[in-house]
Amino acid sequence: MIMEDAFVVELAKVSKDYVGGGETTRVLTDISFQASPAELTLLLGPSGSGKTTFLSLVAGFTQPTAGDIRLFGNDIHRYSATKLAALRALRLGFVFQSFLLIDSLTVEENIELVRTFARFARKREGRGRSGEEIARGSEHRPQVTELLDRFGIAGLRRRYPPQLSQGERQRVAIARAIANDAQLILADEPTASLHADQGLEVIELLKHLATEDNRSVIVASHDTRLAEYATRTVTLTSGRFKSVRE
Ligand SMILES: Nc1ncnc2c1ncn2[C@@H]1O[C@H](COP(=O)(O)OP(=O)(O)OP(=O)(O)O)[C@@H](O)[C@H]1O
Ligand SMILES: [Mg+2]
Repeated sequence: MIMEDAFVVELAKVSKDYVGGGETTRVLTDISFQASPAELTLLLGPSGSGKTTFLSLVAGFTQPTAGDIRLFGNDIHRYSATKLAALRALRLGFVFQSFLLIDSLTVEENIELVRTFARFARKREGRGRSGEEIARGSEHRPQVTELLDRFGIAGLRRRYPPQLSQGERQRVAIARAIANDAQLILADEPTASLHADQGLEVIELLKHLATEDNRSVIVASHDTRLAEYATRTVTLTSGRFKSVRE
């Protein structure tokens, strides 16, 4: 059972060390952070400052060395791998620098795949719930056609990713990120592979997901020009956060 909470993401005194080759490297120190719906948080920091590590912790891909991480009010590090996978399938969306679309599937199929994973996860979670409750949950999921129209890619639905421009690929990836109606979107350098104008289009789309759809969006980047689109900017220096609100 997923509990509701005012914060979508909550970190309390989180630290992260990487251990390997007889060495321990501290990457993040004592990070406390909260993200709410309708916020676009920009996480700025130079290469190697720990931005991807932060996003991996939030998504539960890696464990904190110290501190607590909650998603939607739940302590995710107490979750089993299956439960965590279900939470991601139902409530998280990801956008990456290199898009990570599946080249052997069409645009439409790439998006449909996320909905299929969500359907499986919902079935699993839905054990014990009534059919009516499960049906209600699915009402809000956007249809693939609506998503394609919204992102101006309806004409590309039968194409394969290698047949798209970089900017088009990222728009497909953003449509995919919300195909499960994700309330939390994690974007790692989403504009870094794009020309400046395409990059601005992408950050605008991400901002709409926050402000118009009431989702929480966290964008990691080293590009300070994105700050004007953010509702809040957090800077990572020497493993610590400095936060500035709009
Ligand atoms: N799995 C790992 N094992 C050991 N060290 C790691 C691992 N992943 C990352 N690091 C180290 O942790 C630090 C932070 O890495 P991270 O990828 O989080 O930085 P980043 O801010 O995302 O950088 P970039 O802007 O280049 O993507 C780096 O010094 C990196 O070498
Ligand atoms: Mg990174």
